Amino acid sequence: MNIGLIKESGMERRVALLPEVVAALVTLKVPVMVEKGAGEGSFVSDEAYMAAGASIHPKKEVISGSGMIIKINPPTDEEFGWMTPQQIFLGVLNPLSDHEIVKKIAAADITAFSLDIIPRTSRAQAMDILSSMATVNGYKAVLTAANTLPKFFPMFMTAAGTITPAKVLILGAGVAGLQALATSRKLGAVVEVFDVRAAVKEEVTGLGGKFIDVEGATDEKSAGGYAVEQTEEFKNRQAQAIHEHAVKSDVIICTAQIPGKRAPLLLKKETVAGMKPGSVIIDIAASSGGNCELTKDRETIAVHGITIIGNSFFAIDMPQDASKMFGKNVLNFLKLMITPAEGFRINWEDDIIKGTCVTHNKEIMNDRVKALIQL
Ligand code: NAI
Repeated sequence: MNIGLIKESGMERRVALLPEVVAALVTLKVPVMVEKGAGEGSFVSDEAYMAAGASIHPKKEVISGSGMIIKINPPTDEEFGWMTPQQIFLGVLNPLSDHEIVKKIAAADITAFSLDIIPRTSRAQAMDILSSMATVNGYKAVLTAANTLPKFFPMFMTAAGTITPAKVLILGAGVAGLQALATSRKLGAVVEVFDVRAAVKEEVTGLGGKFIDVEGATDEKSAGGYAVEQTEEFKNRQAQAIHEHAVKSDVIICTAQIPGKRAPLLLKKETVAGMKPGSVIIDIAASSGGNCELTKDRETIAVHGITIIGNSFFAIDMPQDASKMFGKNVLNFLKLMITPAEGFRINWEDDIIKGTCVTHNKEIMNDRVKALIQL
């Protein structure tokens, strides 16, 4: 079965597979068709794909000639129109929030795998694109904050006096939050971190951050490592604690999310009004509603002298390494289906394959998606 790599559209500069992954697939005896110019945004030429063993074609030919189509973002209407029943799509469909696409691909009898719903098990770690992209987001968010802040991150003792280090507050200590913590510490900032999952306290302190404890969080062990909705009483206590720390911070990096739900509102507009002019808020949770009440998704705004940047897609600005990580995750996932001995075979007994599958034979396969959508 051929694999077809198609070019992303719009502002997207990443590409799902770099030539190094194509070469690995070719070694596994899988022919790879690549759309002309697919790697442009990540500075990869068609020649580099050809050197890795791929053939280059126009988009329509790639789609009609491939059993499996790989693209990061959901297919456009035109791409979708060229797909045929039983074809496989592998990418990121956001099925927990985009229910329309799930209905559409089910009705079209496309077998779709969405890597953003891969089970969070140890075995699946090497395929976890959310972790990869969160790493980029956490890193870039801090660099963007440092670039925007009208003062230094590190402490300096100079002949012109002592510069105190910047104070960074991180909301949410998942993959992005921990990366933001590590990057802020490397730049010399003093960092405080909030999370509802007590399990992350050790990691936060290990990376040189101060964990801010708020008593009474609901820490649901059965939620697969994810956070769950909190009680009203806890939310009020947390809002008060966040307010006290936020007004003393120069930078706030918002990363708190609850899969399939609106991001928790943690920074009220009154808190923003109490912050020091010149401070910066970077809201990585912007695409799911934001942690800050004033965040506008994909916009930079200024309120009371505070810059608020709503951006969940810093990965687009770092396409080379973001594509490298994404492609490696895809390859590790594909290795569950492709072996030198058996060729291509989908083992529906494999919990990672089944858990990542959105639709197959016109049915929804993933339990979390199934619970949200009636076909
Ligand atoms: P995420 O993007 O869903 O959420 C980010 C952070 O926000 C989480 O740490 C969450 O606890 C926190 N949060 C949610 N509501 C909050 C609130 N009201 N106040 C403060 N913080 C709040 O999480 P992410 O980064 O995708 O991963 C979460 C965890 O999942 C990881 O720390 C890890 O334990 C686990 N994980 C497991 C993987 C695997 O085993 N394959 C792969 C990646 C993550």
